[in-house]
Amino acid sequence: MRKSLVVGNWKMHGSLAGNVALLEAVKAGAAGVRADVALCVPYPYLAQAGTVLSGSKVAWGAQDVSEYESGAYTGEVSAAMLADLGCSCVIVGHSERRSFYGDTDAVVAAKFVAAQKAGLTPILCVGETLAERESGVTTAVVTRQLDAVLAAAGVSALKSAVVAYEPVWAIGTGKTASPQQAQEVHALIRARFAAEDAAIAQTTRILYGGSVKPANAQELFGQTDIDGGLIGGASLVAADFLAICAA
Ligand code: 13P
Repeated sequence: MRKSLVVGNWKMHGSLAGNVALLEAVKAGAAGVRADVALCVPYPYLAQAGTVLSGSKVAWGAQDVSEYESGAYTGEVSAAMLADLGCSCVIVGHSERRSFYGDTDAVVAAKFVAAQKAGLTPILCVGETLAERESGVTTAVVTRQLDAVLAAAGVSALKSAVVAYEPVWAIGTGKTASPQQAQEVHALIRARFAAEDAAIAQTTRILYGGSVKPANAQELFGQTDIDGGLIGGASLVAADFLAICAA
């Protein structure tokens, strides 16, 4: 049985002063939730998240990581630095990184490997654009994104990783994939893993992300292969995020 996991992705939002109430509210509210809970916050707020969330059931992590261990990479942050700050997880391959910052499948795979090497759990995002869905290549795109990581890290790496299916057309648009549409892709992701190792496929947590709200969370999370959510906008409102965690 896979334990549910709900991860908040704040994206580029927040302020030192404003974060306190949100972090405190999530910390208090999550204590009564059965699912595992984590928050991925902007780099400058990782230390603050650590201070507030330390000792609670809420884990924290970053939204991206360098594929390199150290060196002349101005502006980059290494996985070891995130581990230093108490992070336990990091998002890799978010569609916003893939589309705005040129993260290719190979770069995402290298980031995945770098994260694991430092002891972090990578949260690997995959998903198709609207144009890709409409031209019928959803399966091909998602499989290509998964295969890059399987080739670089091997299927056993999934024992300490999380996958998130985020259809790009559903992110921040208010358009959610229907529970059936999401389940279909989640099932194909699990089948891809099962082709490598059936036992690992059964235990890998696959989250859904894209306009998850308190009103649609329960039905999405009720699908056989959906093990929780990666939450953007709604993770900025404590009551909404906690309602999704409770779902
Ligand atoms: P929204 O929940 O705002 O659609 O964002 C989803 C997402 O990209 C989470 O990583």
